[in-house]
Amino acid sequence: MTSAISVIGTGYLGATHAACMAELGHTVIGVDSNVHKINLLRDGLAPFSEPGLADLLRTHVASGRLRFTTDIREAAEQADMHFVCVGTPQAASGAAADLTAVNAVVDGLAASIRRDCLIVGKSTVPVGTAARLRDRVAAQVPSGVSANVAWNPEFLREGHGVEDTLSPTRLVLGVTSAGDERLLRDVYRAVIAAGTPVHVTDLETAELAKTAANAFLAMKVSFINATADLSDRSGADVVALADVLGDDPRIGRAFLNAGVGFGGGCLPKDIRALAATAEALGATDAVRLLAEVDNANIAARERVVDAAVELCDGDVTGQRIGVLGAAFKPRSDDVRDSPALYVAHELHSRGAKVRVYDPEANVNARAVRPELRYVASPDTAARGADLLMLLTDWPEFARLDPAAVAGLVKHRRIIDGRNALDADRWTAAGWQLRAVGRGLRRADAARAAIAEVGSALGRR
Ligand code: UDX
Repeated sequence: MTSAISVIGTGYLGATHAACMAELGHTVIGVDSNVHKINLLRDGLAPFSEPGLADLLRTHVASGRLRFTTDIREAAEQADMHFVCVGTPQAASGAAADLTAVNAVVDGLAASIRRDCLIVGKSTVPVGTAARLRDRVAAQVPSGVSANVAWNPEFLREGHGVEDTLSPTRLVLGVTSAGDERLLRDVYRAVIAAGTPVHVTDLETAELAKTAANAFLAMKVSFINATADLSDRSGADVVALADVLGDDPRIGRAFLNAGVGFGGGCLPKDIRALAATAEALGATDAVRLLAEVDNANIAARERVVDAAVELCDGDVTGQRIGVLGAAFKPRSDDVRDSPALYVAHELHSRGAKVRVYDPEANVNARAVRPELRYVASPDTAARGADLLMLLTDWPEFARLDPAAVAGLVKHRRIIDGRNALDADRWTAAGWQLRAVGRGLRRADAARAAIAEVGSALGRR
């Protein structure tokens, strides 16, 4: 059975969800208050870079199965199920999530609903939000109309949004009735038939599932970055170490890539929002753990900044620094809380002349960090540079020819902030290469530190 669905909020999550629901055969109406975005989507164009999305949009907008509007009342009139996909950014006033958009959407729907329907939250929200929204909806819909709330978090990764929506690792259905579970199972029938595990939970577990998953991923990254620091101070190799750890199925190799740390629209703000919720609930262990994950992530960025200063003989004033990468991760044009831009900005503010190149994110980066200079090729970033820095692991950077790039720079000095380069090749071409957790600090300083600690421990 196909359903009439609305998807409210057409950002990374919502636009992808809308297109994928149409792909599953449903009739979909996408809603957003941003007229520019809706106009692009109506033309079958993706407002951001996401592999496979443009094809789905074009196909299903053309077939008429997928429509877009700025009027939430149209969605309320036409759909039986409403997916809420609006953003929950970090509040300007603190660490907690800003729920203004979620509340506004739910109020907007509740005011116009005239038929039985299910409101399904997908936005990442603090635990307890769904139950509160349930009461809020019940208080507003006309008598005789049933409009319940369910929570169905998503785990999609940017750059893999389409595949993660059509073939997710699991489906979480946070419901308060067997009837709502049936409705959701119907919508996801094809996905479930393909063998996707389904977890039916209460609303609170569903809400926490998303933030806890992101917190765990963030913790893995911060763990390996703290271990990278330990490796830099002791002469160990964090990549080899991660490979050893990763072979243990209880640990797993994923998310153990040391570097400039995590960024993006989810992990940083989600751990802060979870910490704020934990604080409010008195869960002090969670508060402390999450604060350290956040601190370790910022420290990972700062160590790369420090290494750049050290490589430039202690002062970056007037130094030309070529930065490769601005997006928070490869295959994305998203620069929200990007570690690459953080490092680039920090060096600029200390007087360096920073030139940034990103294959897809230059435009978005310029909008948030206009003070930096953006160039159209890695070669231009490298030309005349005193130092080159790889800060986003785009595959094209790993393919750069160290001998050719050597002919462009002033000094053959490079920091690999993502452990993406073949260190032997670069060193053989005469480069002084520093990589995170593999000699980011000066080798003589690391040797002296380990010798001192070794003899101090040996004396015990
Ligand atoms: C994340 C979650 O993975 C996803 O399940 C959730 O729905 C949304 O948040 P995304 O923001 O797309 O997805 O990014 P992700 O691929 O998780 O990467 C997050 C950050 O961690 C990036 O900056 C990435 O470069 C960094 N990272 C990741 C590392 O530094 N090391 C790693 O080993 C893995």
